[in-house]
Amino acid sequence: MRIDDKPAARLKELGVELRAGVSLTEQTSLGIGGTTDELLLRRYETIPDVMRLLADEKIRHRFLGGGTNVLIADGELSRVMLHLPKAHPGMRVEGNAAFVDASADLGGMVTFCGKRDLGGMEGLIGVPGSVGGALRMNAGAYGMQIGSYVREVEVYRAAAGEIETLRGNDIRFDYRHTSFAPDDVMLRVKLELPSKPYQEILAGIRVCNEKRRSSQPVNQKSAGCIFKNPAGGSAGRMIDELGLKGHRVGDAMVSDRHANFFVNTGHASCSDMLKLIEDVRERIHRAYGIVLENEVIVWQN
Ligand code: EPU
Repeated sequence: MRIDDKPAARLKELGVELRAGVSLTEQTSLGIGGTTDELLLRRYETIPDVMRLLADEKIRHRFLGGGTNVLIADGELSRVMLHLPKAHPGMRVEGNAAFVDASADLGGMVTFCGKRDLGGMEGLIGVPGSVGGALRMNAGAYGMQIGSYVREVEVYRAAAGEIETLRGNDIRFDYRHTSFAPDDVMLRVKLELPSKPYQEILAGIRVCNEKRRSSQPVNQKSAGCIFKNPAGGSAGRMIDELGLKGHRVGDAMVSDRHANFFVNTGHASCSDMLKLIEDVRERIHRAYGIVLENEVIVWQN
C-alpha cells in the first residue's frame, strides 16, 4: 500500500518517518513478505494522533515488532507497516522491578536484567523477537513464560483511542495466547523478577542456549514453531513420527532438525509456506485425528 502525498506530509508533521515501498523479506526471520510503505514512529506519545490520521485517511495498517513469529503475504500488501521507536529502547531496574520498552530485544532484556541480578527469564534467551511480541504471544520456553512476571503493561488501546496501563492481574496469559485485544499495541512493561546472582543466571542461560542449539535449526530462516502443541502432546514429535522432516513445497521445508520448525531454504514464498503448513496439518489430522493450531501468526493480504 502506498501513502499519498497529503497524508504523508501530515505524518511527517507528527515526526513519523516514511519509507516507501519496502520489502518485508528483510524484516522477517522467515525471509518472507511482500512490499509496502513503512512508518517509523519517533515517540509513543504520538500514537493516538497517528492512528486517528490513518483512520481518517482509511489507511489500513499493522504494527510489526521483531518479525520473528509472522508469515506475511507475498506481493503488494494492502496495509502499511508501523514500527515503534527502536533506536534506544528504555530499560531500567528498580529493586526487583524492570521497566522495559516493547521495542527492546527480548534476549537483550534477559541479559540486561540478569546483569542486575534479576533472573527467572533465562529460558527466553535465544527466543528471537521483541519484548512487545513476546508479551502478546506470552512467549515461553523451558518451563517458563513471560506472563508470570508481568505486573503492568502500557498499551495503546485502539478501541478507546488512548494509551492505558493494564494491571498484570487483569491480563490473562495462557499457553501462547493472551487476553489483549487484537489491535492493542504493547508499549512498555513492568516486570517483577526474582533476585538471583548473575553467575547463576549465566549458567542457566548457557544450559538453555545449548539445548536450543542442539534441538532447533537456529541458523536457518524460520519463525520458530509453526504449530502450538496439542494438549498433552508434541507437534514436533508427531510430524517427525510421520517421517516428514525434509518434506517441502518449493523452498519451504520441514526442518530436518526439529519437525515443528519450517524453514525457508532459499526463496520460499508465503504461498509455498502456507501450502506446506496445510499439507502437514492435513496429514497429522489423518494420522492422529488432531487438528493442529497455528502458533505462527499469518498476515494474509
Ligand atoms: N521431538 C521429536 N522430533 C522433533 C522435535 C521434537 O521427536 O523433530 C520430540 C523431542 O525429542 C521431545 C519432544 O518432541 O521429546 C518435545 O520437543 P522440544 O523439547 O523440542 O519441545 P517442543 O514442545 O517441540 C516447545 C516450544 C518451543 C520451545 C521448546 C523448549 C511450542 C509449540 N514449542 O517445543 O517454542 O523453544 O518447547 O522449551 O510450544 C516457539 O514458541 O516458537 C518455540 C519454538
